[in-house]
Amino acid sequence: MSPLSNLAARDVETLVHPYTDLASFRETGPLIFERAQGVYVYDTEGKPYIEGMAGLWCTALGYGNEELVEAATAQMHKLSFAHLFSGRSHDPAIELGEKLKEIAPVPISKVFFCSSGSEANDTQVKLVWYLNNALDRPKKKKIVSRVKAYHGVTIAAASLTGLPGNHRDFDVPLPGFLHAGCPHHYRFAQAGESEEDFASRLAAELEALIESEGPETVAAFIAEPVMGAGGVIVPPRTYFEKIMAVCTKHDVFMISDEVICGFGRLGTAFGCEKLGFVPHSISVAKALSSAYLPIAGVMIPEALYQALLVESKKIGTFGHGFTYGGHPVSAAVALKAIEIYSRERIFDRAAELAPRFQARLRALNDHPLVGEARGLGLIGAVELVADKPTKRSFLPQRAVGPRVVQFAEAEGLIVRAVAGDVLTLCPPLIISEAEIDELFDSLTRALDNTLDWVQRERIAEP
Ligand SMILES: Cc1ncc(COP(=O)(O)O)c(C=O)c1O
Repeated sequence: MSPLSNLAARDVETLVHPYTDLASFRETGPLIFERAQGVYVYDTEGKPYIEGMAGLWCTALGYGNEELVEAATAQMHKLSFAHLFSGRSHDPAIELGEKLKEIAPVPISKVFFCSSGSEANDTQVKLVWYLNNALDRPKKKKIVSRVKAYHGVTIAAASLTGLPGNHRDFDVPLPGFLHAGCPHHYRFAQAGESEEDFASRLAAELEALIESEGPETVAAFIAEPVMGAGGVIVPPRTYFEKIMAVCTKHDVFMISDEVICGFGRLGTAFGCEKLGFVPHSISVAKALSSAYLPIAGVMIPEALYQALLVESKKIGTFGHGFTYGGHPVSAAVALKAIEIYSRERIFDRAAELAPRFQARLRALNDHPLVGEARGLGLIGAVELVADKPTKRSFLPQRAVGPRVVQFAEAEGLIVRAVAGDVLTLCPPLIISEAEIDELFDSLTRALDNTLDWVQRERIAEP
Protein backbone atom coordinates (compact mmCIF):
# COMPACT_ATOMS: atom_id res chain seq x y z
CA MET A 1 0.00 0.00 0.00
CA SER A 2 1.39 3.39 -0.97
CA PRO A 3 2.05 5.79 1.90
CA LEU A 4 -0.64 8.39 2.40
CA SER A 5 -0.04 11.86 0.99
CA ASN A 6 0.43 14.67 3.43
CA LEU A 7 -3.14 15.88 2.96
CA ALA A 8 -4.50 12.34 3.31
CA ALA A 9 -2.47 11.75 6.47
CA ARG A 10 -3.80 15.00 7.96
CA ASP A 11 -7.33 13.88 7.10
CA VAL A 12 -6.89 10.54 8.88
CA GLU A 13 -5.68 12.32 12.01
CA THR A 14 -8.41 14.94 11.90
CA LEU A 15 -11.79 13.81 10.60
CA VAL A 16 -14.45 11.27 11.49
CA HIS A 17 -15.94 10.21 8.15
CA PRO A 18 -19.63 9.32 7.86
CA TYR A 19 -20.49 5.89 6.45
CA THR A 20 -16.88 4.73 6.52
CA ASP A 21 -15.21 1.70 8.06
CA LEU A 22 -13.21 3.84 10.44
CA ALA A 23 -10.60 1.18 11.18
CA SER A 24 -9.65 0.17 7.62
CA PHE A 25 -9.87 3.82 6.57
CA ARG A 26 -6.77 4.49 8.69
CA GLU A 27 -4.85 2.35 6.17
CA THR A 28 -6.55 3.36 2.92
CA GLY A 29 -7.04 7.06 3.60
CA PRO A 30 -9.41 9.35 1.71
CA LEU A 31 -9.95 10.06 -1.99
CA ILE A 32 -9.65 13.83 -2.00
CA PHE A 33 -11.38 15.99 -4.61
CA GLU A 34 -10.21 19.45 -5.50
CA ARG A 35 -12.47 20.84 -8.19
CA ALA A 36 -15.39 19.93 -10.42
CA GLN A 37 -17.09 20.98 -13.64
CA GLY A 38 -20.22 19.67 -15.34
CA VAL A 39 -20.59 15.99 -14.39
CA TYR A 40 -16.86 15.57 -13.65
CA VAL A 41 -15.01 15.82 -10.35
CA TYR A 42 -11.20 16.01 -10.25
CA ASP A 43 -8.95 14.62 -7.53
CA THR A 44 -5.81 16.29 -6.19
CA GLU A 45 -3.74 14.65 -8.96
CA GLY A 46 -6.04 16.21 -11.57
CA LYS A 47 -7.64 12.86 -12.51
CA PRO A 48 -11.25 13.26 -13.75
CA TYR A 49 -14.12 11.05 -12.63
CA ILE A 50 -17.74 11.01 -13.82
CA GLU A 51 -19.81 11.74 -10.70
CA GLY A 52 -22.17 8.81 -11.17
CA MET A 53 -23.86 9.54 -7.85
CA ALA A 54 -24.40 13.31 -8.25
CA GLY A 55 -22.46 13.64 -4.99
CA LEU A 56 -24.98 12.08 -2.64
CA TRP A 57 -27.99 12.00 -4.99
CA CYS A 58 -28.04 15.78 -4.98
CA THR A 59 -26.01 17.76 -7.55
CA ALA A 60 -28.76 17.75 -10.18
CA LEU A 61 -27.31 20.66 -12.19
CA GLY A 62 -23.77 19.36 -11.93
CA TYR A 63 -20.80 21.49 -10.95
CA GLY A 64 -19.56 24.95 -11.82
CA ASN A 65 -22.93 26.48 -12.65
CA GLU A 66 -22.14 30.20 -12.74
CA GLU A 67 -25.75 31.29 -12.34
CA LEU A 68 -25.99 29.49 -9.00
CA VAL A 69 -22.65 30.94 -7.88
CA GLU A 70 -23.82 34.42 -8.82
CA ALA A 71 -27.15 33.99 -7.06
CA ALA A 72 -25.28 33.07 -3.87
CA THR A 73 -22.77 35.89 -4.21
CA ALA A 74 -25.42 38.53 -4.86
CA GLN A 75 -27.47 37.40 -1.86
CA MET A 76 -24.40 37.31 0.38
CA HIS A 77 -23.64 40.91 -0.54
CA LYS A 78 -27.23 41.98 0.06
CA LEU A 79 -28.25 40.10 3.21
CA SER A 80 -25.91 37.29 4.24
CA PHE A 81 -28.07 36.06 7.10
CA ALA A 82 -31.53 36.54 8.45
CA HIS A 83 -33.72 34.09 10.29
CA LEU A 84 -37.41 33.30 10.37
CA PHE A 85 -37.80 33.06 14.17
CA SER A 86 -40.26 35.24 16.11
CA GLY A 87 -42.00 36.53 13.02
CA ARG A 88 -38.92 37.84 11.21
CA SER A 89 -38.63 37.19 7.52
CA HIS A 90 -36.81 37.91 4.28
CA ASP A 91 -37.51 38.06 0.59
CA PRO A 92 -35.71 34.86 -0.60
CA ALA A 93 -37.59 32.61 1.87
CA ILE A 94 -40.96 34.16 1.00
CA GLU A 95 -40.33 33.81 -2.71
CA LEU A 96 -39.05 30.26 -2.41
CA GLY A 97 -42.06 29.27 -0.30
CA GLU A 98 -44.36 30.72 -2.98
CA LYS A 99 -42.49 28.91 -5.71
CA LEU A 100 -42.70 25.56 -3.90
CA LYS A 101 -46.44 26.02 -3.38
CA GLU A 102 -46.77 26.75 -7.07
CA ILE A 103 -44.92 23.64 -8.25
CA ALA A 104 -46.13 21.25 -5.52
CA PRO A 105 -47.90 18.15 -6.85
CA VAL A 106 -50.56 18.36 -4.09
CA PRO A 107 -52.30 21.34 -2.46
CA ILE A 108 -49.81 22.91 -0.08
CA SER A 109 -50.64 25.62 2.41
CA LYS A 110 -47.27 26.55 3.89
CA VAL A 111 -43.59 25.57 3.78
CA PHE A 112 -41.32 25.03 6.81
CA PHE A 113 -37.63 25.40 6.00
CA CYS A 114 -34.68 23.55 7.49
CA SER A 115 -31.25 22.52 6.21
CA SER A 116 -31.19 18.76 5.69
CA GLY A 117 -33.34 15.81 4.79
CA SER A 118 -32.99 14.46 8.31
CA GLU A 119 -34.24 17.72 9.80
CA ALA A 120 -37.16 17.71 7.37
CA ASN A 121 -38.18 14.19 8.38
CA ASP A 122 -37.69 14.84 12.09
CA THR A 123 -39.94 17.83 11.59
CA GLN A 124 -42.53 15.66 9.82
CA VAL A 125 -42.66 13.36 12.86
CA LYS A 126 -43.02 16.26 15.30
CA LEU A 127 -45.73 17.90 13.18
CA VAL A 128 -47.74 14.68 13.04
CA TRP A 129 -47.52 14.35 16.83
CA TYR A 130 -48.54 17.99 17.20
CA LEU A 131 -51.42 17.41 14.77
CA ASN A 132 -52.84 14.56 16.77
CA ASN A 133 -52.52 16.49 19.99
CA ALA A 134 -54.40 19.35 18.36
CA LEU A 135 -57.07 16.89 17.22
CA ASP A 136 -57.29 15.47 20.74
CA ARG A 137 -56.09 12.04 19.62
CA PRO A 138 -53.18 11.69 22.05
CA LYS A 139 -52.71 7.97 21.39
CA LYS A 140 -52.41 8.31 17.60
CA LYS A 141 -48.62 8.76 17.46
CA LYS A 142 -46.94 5.72 15.90
CA ILE A 143 -45.19 6.18 12.58
CA VAL A 144 -44.87 3.41 10.02
CA SER A 145 -41.86 3.36 7.75
CA ARG A 146 -40.46 0.43 5.78
CA VAL A 147 -37.63 -2.07 5.97
CA LYS A 148 -34.72 -0.65 3.89
CA ALA A 149 -36.13 2.89 3.91
CA TYR A 150 -33.67 5.73 4.31
CA HIS A 151 -34.93 8.90 5.93
CA GLY A 152 -31.79 10.25 7.61
CA VAL A 153 -29.79 9.91 10.78
CA THR A 154 -31.06 12.31 13.44
CA ILE A 155 -32.84 10.39 16.14
CA ALA A 156 -36.38 10.38 14.75
CA ALA A 157 -35.16 10.16 11.14
CA ALA A 158 -32.82 7.27 12.07
CA SER A 159 -35.81 5.58 13.71
CA LEU A 160 -37.72 5.96 10.44
CA THR A 161 -34.77 4.57 8.50
CA GLY A 162 -35.09 0.82 8.09
CA LEU A 163 -31.45 -0.21 7.70
CA PRO A 164 -29.68 -2.25 10.40
CA GLY A 165 -26.41 -0.33 9.95
CA ASN A 166 -28.15 2.87 11.05
CA HIS A 167 -29.73 1.25 14.10
CA ARG A 168 -27.17 -1.09 15.54
CA ASP A 169 -25.57 0.14 18.77
CA PHE A 170 -27.11 3.60 18.32
CA ASP A 171 -30.12 2.53 20.43
CA VAL A 172 -32.64 3.34 17.73
CA PRO A 173 -35.36 2.95 16.52
CA LEU A 174 -37.19 4.70 19.33
CA PRO A 175 -40.40 3.04 20.54
CA GLY A 176 -43.39 3.87 18.35
CA PHE A 177 -41.54 3.57 15.03
CA LEU A 178 -42.67 0.55 13.02
CA HIS A 179 -41.31 -0.92 9.81
CA ALA A 180 -43.57 -2.45 7.18
CA GLY A 181 -42.33 -4.83 4.49
CA CYS A 182 -39.86 -3.75 1.82
CA PRO A 183 -41.40 -3.49 -1.67
CA HIS A 184 -38.54 -5.24 -3.45
CA HIS A 185 -39.93 -7.89 -5.75
CA TYR A 186 -36.55 -9.49 -6.61
CA ARG A 187 -35.73 -10.15 -2.94
CA PHE A 188 -39.05 -10.44 -1.15
CA ALA A 189 -41.70 -11.73 -3.57
CA GLN A 190 -42.74 -15.34 -3.12
CA ALA A 191 -42.02 -17.85 -5.90
CA GLY A 192 -44.31 -17.13 -8.83
CA GLU A 193 -45.86 -14.06 -7.19
CA SER A 194 -46.66 -11.32 -9.73
CA GLU A 195 -45.80 -7.70 -9.00
CA GLU A 196 -49.49 -6.96 -8.48
CA ASP A 197 -49.95 -9.89 -6.08
CA PHE A 198 -46.82 -8.89 -4.19
CA ALA A 199 -48.19 -5.34 -3.88
CA SER A 200 -51.52 -6.71 -2.61
CA ARG A 201 -49.72 -8.84 -0.02
CA LEU A 202 -47.63 -5.87 1.20
CA ALA A 203 -50.78 -3.77 1.54
CA ALA A 204 -52.53 -6.59 3.43
CA GLU A 205 -49.52 -6.91 5.73
CA LEU A 206 -49.54 -3.16 6.35
CA GLU A 207 -53.22 -3.35 7.22
CA ALA A 208 -52.60 -6.29 9.57
CA LEU A 209 -49.82 -4.31 11.25
CA ILE A 210 -52.04 -1.25 11.72
CA GLU A 211 -54.87 -3.39 13.06
CA SER A 212 -52.66 -5.30 15.48
CA GLU A 213 -51.17 -2.06 16.80
CA GLY A 214 -54.62 -0.47 16.88
CA PRO A 215 -55.52 2.11 14.19
CA GLU A 216 -56.16 4.64 16.95
CA THR A 217 -52.39 4.49 17.70
CA VAL A 218 -51.01 4.74 14.15
CA ALA A 219 -50.51 8.32 12.98
CA ALA A 220 -48.51 8.30 9.76
CA PHE A 221 -46.85 6.33 6.99
CA ILE A 222 -43.68 7.66 5.34
CA ALA A 223 -42.21 6.49 2.04
CA GLU A 224 -39.67 7.42 -0.57
CA PRO A 225 -41.35 7.01 -3.98
CA VAL A 226 -38.29 5.01 -5.08
CA MET A 227 -36.12 3.93 -2.14
CA GLY A 228 -32.62 5.34 -2.55
CA ALA A 229 -29.96 4.39 -0.03
CA GLY A 230 -31.72 1.09 0.69
CA GLY A 231 -30.61 0.05 -2.79
CA VAL A 232 -32.73 1.93 -5.37
CA ILE A 233 -35.87 -0.12 -4.91
CA VAL A 234 -38.68 0.59 -7.36
CA PRO A 235 -41.96 -0.62 -5.85
CA PRO A 236 -44.03 -3.24 -7.66
CA ARG A 237 -46.85 -2.13 -9.97
CA THR A 238 -50.00 -1.00 -8.08
CA TYR A 239 -48.09 -0.75 -4.77
CA PHE A 240 -48.85 2.84 -3.85
CA GLU A 241 -52.52 2.74 -4.81
CA LYS A 242 -52.98 -0.27 -2.52
CA ILE A 243 -50.91 1.21 0.32
CA MET A 244 -52.75 4.54 0.04
CA ALA A 245 -56.11 2.76 0.30
CA VAL A 246 -55.01 1.20 3.61
CA CYS A 247 -53.73 4.54 4.92
CA THR A 248 -56.93 6.33 3.93
CA LYS A 249 -59.11 3.64 5.54
CA HIS A 250 -57.30 3.99 8.88
CA ASP A 251 -56.87 7.76 8.75
CA VAL A 252 -53.10 7.46 8.51
CA PHE A 253 -51.28 10.62 7.36
CA MET A 254 -49.13 9.95 4.29
CA ILE A 255 -45.69 11.57 3.96
CA SER A 256 -43.70 11.41 0.74
CA ASP A 257 -39.97 11.70 1.35
CA GLU A 258 -38.91 13.37 -1.89
CA VAL A 259 -35.37 14.14 -0.71
CA ILE A 260 -33.96 12.12 -3.65
CA CYS A 261 -36.92 11.80 -6.02
CA GLY A 262 -37.98 15.46 -5.88
CA PHE A 263 -36.90 17.85 -8.65
CA GLY A 264 -36.82 15.64 -11.68
CA ARG A 265 -34.95 12.49 -10.71
CA LEU A 266 -37.68 10.22 -12.08
CA GLY A 267 -38.49 12.51 -15.02
CA THR A 268 -41.33 14.28 -13.20
CA ALA A 269 -41.07 17.23 -10.82
CA PHE A 270 -41.88 14.99 -7.83
CA GLY A 271 -41.57 11.24 -7.44
CA CYS A 272 -45.13 10.76 -6.19
CA GLU A 273 -46.35 12.02 -9.58
CA LYS A 274 -44.40 9.29 -11.35
CA LEU A 275 -45.51 6.59 -8.90
CA GLY A 276 -49.11 7.83 -8.95
CA PHE A 277 -49.92 8.65 -5.34
CA VAL A 278 -51.14 11.73 -3.52
CA PRO A 279 -49.39 12.29 -0.18
CA HIS A 280 -50.54 14.71 2.52
CA SER A 281 -47.13 16.28 3.04
CA ILE A 282 -43.73 16.21 1.38
CA SER A 283 -40.09 16.44 2.49
CA VAL A 284 -37.64 18.10 0.09
CA ALA A 285 -33.87 18.71 0.23
CA LYS A 286 -30.82 17.89 -1.92
CA ALA A 287 -31.72 18.95 -5.51
CA LEU A 288 -33.86 21.79 -4.10
CA SER A 289 -30.64 23.83 -4.36
CA SER A 290 -28.82 21.36 -6.59
CA ALA A 291 -26.67 20.96 -3.46
CA TYR A 292 -24.86 24.26 -3.97
CA LEU A 293 -25.92 25.10 -0.42
CA PRO A 294 -27.81 23.17 2.25
CA ILE A 295 -31.55 23.76 2.32
CA ALA A 296 -34.54 21.50 2.93
CA GLY A 297 -38.22 21.87 3.65
CA VAL A 298 -41.50 20.36 4.70
CA MET A 299 -44.45 21.13 2.45
CA ILE A 300 -47.46 21.40 4.74
CA PRO A 301 -51.12 20.94 3.78
CA GLU A 302 -53.86 23.26 5.07
CA ALA A 303 -55.32 20.76 7.57
CA LEU A 304 -51.92 20.32 9.21
CA TYR A 305 -51.33 24.06 9.21
CA GLN A 306 -54.68 24.56 10.99
CA ALA A 307 -53.50 22.15 13.68
CA LEU A 308 -50.28 24.12 14.09
CA LEU A 309 -52.38 27.25 14.58
CA VAL A 310 -54.49 25.57 17.26
CA GLU A 311 -51.50 24.22 19.16
CA SER A 312 -49.36 27.35 18.94
CA LYS A 313 -52.31 29.44 20.15
CA LYS A 314 -52.72 27.10 23.11
CA ILE A 315 -49.01 27.05 23.95
CA GLY A 316 -48.16 30.60 22.93
CA THR A 317 -45.55 29.66 20.34
CA PHE A 318 -44.72 27.12 17.64
CA GLY A 319 -41.68 25.82 19.52
CA HIS A 320 -39.70 24.34 16.67
CA GLY A 321 -37.13 25.79 14.29
CA PHE A 322 -33.51 25.71 13.16
CA THR A 323 -31.11 28.67 13.09
CA TYR A 324 -30.38 28.13 9.41
CA GLY A 325 -33.90 27.19 8.32
CA GLY A 326 -34.64 29.15 5.13
CA HIS A 327 -31.16 30.73 5.13
CA PRO A 328 -31.39 33.62 2.64
CA VAL A 329 -28.33 32.60 0.63
CA SER A 330 -29.51 28.98 0.36
CA ALA A 331 -33.01 30.15 -0.49
CA ALA A 332 -31.68 32.46 -3.23
CA VAL A 333 -29.71 29.57 -4.71
CA ALA A 334 -32.73 27.25 -4.54
CA LEU A 335 -34.86 29.86 -6.33
CA LYS A 336 -32.25 30.09 -9.06
CA ALA A 337 -32.01 26.28 -9.31
CA ILE A 338 -35.79 26.03 -9.76
CA GLU A 339 -35.65 28.79 -12.37
CA ILE A 340 -33.00 26.81 -14.29
CA TYR A 341 -34.98 23.55 -13.95
CA SER A 342 -37.94 25.29 -15.55
CA ARG A 343 -36.11 27.34 -18.20
CA GLU A 344 -33.97 24.43 -19.38
CA ARG A 345 -36.75 21.83 -19.06
CA ILE A 346 -34.45 19.74 -16.88
CA PHE A 347 -37.20 17.38 -15.67
CA ASP A 348 -38.38 16.69 -19.24
CA ARG A 349 -34.77 16.21 -20.24
CA ALA A 350 -34.36 13.62 -17.50
CA ALA A 351 -37.45 11.85 -18.86
CA GLU A 352 -35.99 11.96 -22.37
CA LEU A 353 -32.63 10.55 -21.23
CA ALA A 354 -34.17 7.87 -19.03
CA PRO A 355 -34.73 5.25 -21.77
CA ARG A 356 -31.06 5.31 -22.75
CA PHE A 357 -29.89 5.26 -19.13
CA GLN A 358 -32.27 2.41 -18.27
CA ALA A 359 -31.37 0.42 -21.39
CA ARG A 360 -27.65 0.61 -20.61
CA LEU A 361 -28.38 -0.24 -16.97
CA ARG A 362 -30.56 -3.25 -17.77
CA ALA A 363 -28.00 -4.59 -20.25
CA LEU A 364 -25.86 -5.29 -17.16
CA ASN A 365 -28.37 -8.00 -16.20
CA ASP A 366 -26.37 -10.24 -18.55
CA HIS A 367 -23.18 -9.81 -16.53
CA PRO A 368 -22.23 -12.91 -14.49
CA LEU A 369 -22.00 -10.90 -11.25
CA VAL A 370 -25.31 -9.08 -11.59
CA GLY A 371 -28.41 -10.49 -9.90
CA GLU A 372 -30.61 -7.54 -10.72
CA ALA A 373 -30.05 -4.23 -12.53
CA ARG A 374 -33.00 -1.97 -11.75
CA GLY A 375 -34.09 1.63 -11.73
CA LEU A 376 -36.44 4.33 -12.92
CA GLY A 377 -35.78 7.68 -14.56
CA LEU A 378 -32.17 8.66 -13.96
CA ILE A 379 -31.61 6.51 -10.90
CA GLY A 380 -30.53 2.90 -10.86
CA ALA A 381 -28.76 0.11 -9.03
CA VAL A 382 -26.88 -3.06 -9.76
CA GLU A 383 -27.23 -5.81 -7.17
CA LEU A 384 -24.30 -8.23 -7.20
CA VAL A 385 -24.75 -11.88 -6.36
CA ALA A 386 -22.42 -14.83 -5.85
CA ASP A 387 -24.87 -17.15 -7.61
CA LYS A 388 -27.43 -15.88 -10.09
CA PRO A 389 -29.95 -18.79 -10.10
CA THR A 390 -30.31 -18.87 -6.30
CA LYS A 391 -29.74 -15.09 -5.85
CA ARG A 392 -27.20 -15.97 -3.16
CA SER A 393 -25.34 -12.87 -1.97
CA PHE A 394 -21.62 -12.66 -1.36
CA LEU A 395 -20.55 -12.88 2.27
CA PRO A 396 -20.52 -9.29 3.57
CA GLN A 397 -16.91 -9.63 4.76
CA ARG A 398 -15.80 -10.20 1.14
CA ALA A 399 -16.72 -6.54 0.55
CA VAL A 400 -17.44 -7.13 -3.13
CA GLY A 401 -19.44 -3.90 -3.57
CA PRO A 402 -16.62 -1.74 -2.16
CA ARG A 403 -14.21 -3.60 -4.46
CA VAL A 404 -16.26 -2.60 -7.53
CA VAL A 405 -16.20 0.99 -6.26
CA GLN A 406 -12.39 0.82 -6.25
CA PHE A 407 -12.24 -0.64 -9.75
CA ALA A 408 -14.71 2.01 -10.93
CA GLU A 409 -12.54 4.75 -9.43
CA ALA A 410 -9.58 3.37 -11.34
CA GLU A 411 -11.76 3.72 -14.48
CA GLY A 412 -12.64 7.31 -13.61
CA LEU A 413 -16.15 6.69 -12.30
CA ILE A 414 -17.72 7.42 -8.94
CA VAL A 415 -20.42 4.99 -7.84
CA ARG A 416 -21.54 4.01 -4.36
CA ALA A 417 -21.90 0.59 -2.76
CA VAL A 418 -24.68 0.19 -0.22
CA ALA A 419 -25.42 -2.78 2.00
CA GLY A 420 -25.95 -6.07 0.21
CA ASP A 421 -23.36 -5.33 -2.49
CA VAL A 422 -25.68 -2.98 -4.33
CA LEU A 423 -24.03 -0.35 -6.54
CA THR A 424 -26.09 2.78 -6.87
CA LEU A 425 -26.17 5.23 -9.77
CA CYS A 426 -27.72 8.68 -9.74
CA PRO A 427 -25.88 11.01 -12.13
CA PRO A 428 -26.46 14.75 -12.40
CA LEU A 429 -29.60 15.41 -14.47
CA ILE A 430 -27.51 17.48 -16.90
CA ILE A 431 -25.58 14.40 -18.01
CA SER A 432 -25.35 13.99 -21.82
CA GLU A 433 -26.03 10.82 -23.81
CA ALA A 434 -22.30 10.45 -24.51
CA GLU A 435 -21.55 10.78 -20.79
CA ILE A 436 -24.19 8.14 -19.99
CA ASP A 437 -22.37 5.81 -22.38
CA GLU A 438 -19.02 6.67 -20.79
CA LEU A 439 -20.48 5.97 -17.34
CA PHE A 440 -21.73 2.52 -18.32
CA ASP A 441 -18.61 1.65 -20.33
CA SER A 442 -16.52 2.40 -17.22
CA LEU A 443 -18.87 0.48 -14.96
CA THR A 444 -18.79 -2.55 -17.26
CA ARG A 445 -14.98 -2.57 -17.19
CA ALA A 446 -15.08 -2.27 -13.39
CA LEU A 447 -17.48 -5.23 -13.19
CA ASP A 448 -15.26 -7.27 -15.53
CA ASN A 449 -12.22 -6.52 -13.37
CA THR A 450 -14.21 -7.49 -10.29
CA LEU A 451 -15.22 -10.75 -11.95
CA ASP A 452 -11.54 -11.57 -12.62
CA TRP A 453 -10.78 -10.92 -8.97
CA VAL A 454 -13.79 -12.93 -7.77
CA GLN A 455 -12.72 -15.91 -9.88
CA ARG A 456 -9.01 -15.61 -9.05
CA GLU A 457 -9.56 -15.35 -5.30
CA ARG A 458 -12.58 -17.73 -5.23
CA ILE A 459 -14.62 -14.96 -3.59
CA ALA A 460 -18.00 -16.49 -4.50
CA GLU A 461 -17.54 -19.52 -2.28
CA PRO A 462 -19.95 -19.59 0.65
C1 LIG B 1 -34.76 9.82 0.96
C2 LIG B 1 -33.86 10.52 1.93
N1 LIG B 1 -34.39 11.12 3.00
C3 LIG B 1 -33.63 11.76 3.88
C4 LIG B 1 -32.26 11.82 3.74
C5 LIG B 1 -31.43 12.51 4.76
O1 LIG B 1 -30.93 13.68 4.26
P1 LIG B 1 -29.68 14.40 4.96
O2 LIG B 1 -28.49 13.53 4.74
O3 LIG B 1 -29.62 15.72 4.24
O4 LIG B 1 -30.02 14.56 6.39
C6 LIG B 1 -31.67 11.23 2.63
C7 LIG B 1 -30.21 11.28 2.43
O5 LIG B 1 -29.65 10.63 1.57
C8 LIG B 1 -32.48 10.54 1.71
O6 LIG B 1 -31.94 9.90 0.66
